[in-house]
Amino acid sequence: MAHKMITVISREDIARRVAELGEEITAHYHGQPLVVVCVLKGAFLFYADLVRHIRTPMEMDFVRLSSYGSGTSRGRQAVFTKDMEVDVDGKHVLLVEDIVDTGRSAEFLLHVLEKRGAASLKICSFVDKSERREVSLKVDFAGFPIQKGFIVGYGMDYAEQYRELDAVYELVPE
Ligand code: IMP
Ligand code: MG
Repeated sequence: MAHKMITVISREDIARRVAELGEEITAHYHGQPLVVVCVLKGAFLFYADLVRHIRTPMEMDFVRLSSYGSGTSRGRQAVFTKDMEVDVDGKHVLLVEDIVDTGRSAEFLLHVLEKRGAASLKICSFVDKSERREVSLKVDFAGFPIQKGFIVGYGMDYAEQYRELDAVYELVPE
């Protein structure tokens, strides 16, 4: 199917907002050590930019969940395809997501990390599709609220394409 791509977030807006989020996060943790978890693959560019704006001692780790397959269809039950390596027991943990949509994958991660003894758990998401939530879950540090449309670029894909783009586009069927 052919798609048209419409810019929804420019690279300048991304840079500005990511720097602001880094400042908000820095202020929140005020120097406490933090485990910052990148939820692969979608968050990889956002994460790489964000951690360079956070001023607190950090351990970094990466997880990958099975998710949307290769299309735009809705999610299923989440499972790890790559688990964490850092022990989170007694530590402050910040999850970094590309998009929180239904909230089911973030809810799964929060549940697991809580059981593993995280001292505190917060979520930072580049995009917050808050109106589409199917579970009660709040994004603590949200980049951009976007409620509709399927977006790609800045790490986010459609069928593994477009992750490398440095702005965010909405895919509109032609
Ligand atoms: P959920 O919150 O469990 O429904 O899953 C959110 C995940 O679905 C995100 O981390 C993305 O990987 C994927 N997703 C949701 N909406 C979009 C979109 O508009 N473009 C690309 N991926 C999306
Ligand atoms: Mg994702």
